[in-house]
Amino acid sequence: MEKGDLVSLEIVITLLREAMLEKASTAKGFLIDGYPRELEQGVRFEKEIKPCEVVLVFDVPDDVMTKRLLERGKNSGRVDDNEETIKKRLETFHNITQPVIDHFQDQNKVRKISAIGDVDEVFKQVEKVLDEVTKEDVTLKDAQVVFVLGGPGSGKGTQCSKIVEKYGFCHLSSGDLLRAEVASGSERGQRLNEIMEKGDLVPLDIVLDLIKESMIKNLSETKCFLLDGYPRELEQGQRFENEIVPCTSVLLFDAPDETMKSRLLERGKTSGRVDDNEETIEKRLQTFHNITQPVIDYYDKQNKLTKISADGPSDEIFKQVEKYLDSRPW
Ligand code: AP5
Repeated sequence: MEKGDLVSLEIVITLLREAMLEKASTAKGFLIDGYPRELEQGVRFEKEIKPCEVVLVFDVPDDVMTKRLLERGKNSGRVDDNEETIKKRLETFHNITQPVIDHFQDQNKVRKISAIGDVDEVFKQVEKVLDEVTKEDVTLKDAQVVFVLGGPGSGKGTQCSKIVEKYGFCHLSSGDLLRAEVASGSERGQRLNEIMEKGDLVPLDIVLDLIKESMIKNLSETKCFLLDGYPRELEQGQRFENEIVPCTSVLLFDAPDETMKSRLLERGKTSGRVDDNEETIEKRLQTFHNITQPVIDYYDKQNKLTKISADGPSDEIFKQVEKYLDSRPW
């Protein structure tokens, strides 16, 4: 610390974990002050401990920070509050911590606070952010969520549109949210396109964040959500249920591979989707059977699964959906 360098990642993450565990039963939440200082710290924390809700960035010009620290140094007794070390600390911040801010910016988690004014003015901005974070949590906990599963081309999207029309649910398709991100032309979108073109699954955190953001946006319209194409892997379901709200039920559209394949090849003639070609469809079917089947088994065991036979004409399939939805209060 005297040299103004960063302390090793292992040590910091262990100290944090221990301190959090000690307070876990009484704390309403955690402010992790001055962490992560480097990208790997953030990535490891979110993987090994918990994803963060929001990242507060206090934005102040270098000369103001230097002045504040020199002032404190007059009687703080800290080994690093001297001109030379302060310069090194600022350099470390700009070179190593800036990529952390960029990383969380990509996930839409950064809230910048302009921190030049007096303490109370700065705190007003902080309050605004924290009020929002705690409000999000409470309201999403009231949501009713139906996971909609089925292979590629099983008709999930088609049936969801009908449900929206008759029951007024909010339909969120993870595939559509991802394609919208691709269409935005962002760098993240380009990376997603490459993954989807191969028929693989995109990283879990990206899908979860996109879904959470959309749920919050739509919450004033309805509390009932259809999550079409989510969860695709077991961890997606567990993370969603731990971090947002447990699902109410799971609808599975069940169709033979041949039916799904021929529907998608037909759609591929005009859809313009990068994944509606024979090779990628095969890979999507494989991904479904290998990775999504355990999700289906998991919810079946919890008695939350309703299987809909999805091989016939669309209206016939919808009759089964109506029978299920009419049997519950929404
Ligand atoms: P996504 O967009 O979710 O695609 P999909 O699940 O592969 O399936 P589709 O949406 O193409 O089919 P659908 O079941 O909705 O059927 P639809 O109603 O459209 O995902 C695409 C990619 O994004 C994934 O491969 C992955 O890379 C990524 N991704 C998405 N979610 C993710 C997640 N949670 N995690 C990680 N990665 C994720 O119907 C298909 C066609 O059939 C249409 O032309 C329709 O008109 C027709 N049709 C429908 N029903 C009938 C019927 N009964 N009779 C005749 N034709 C019908």
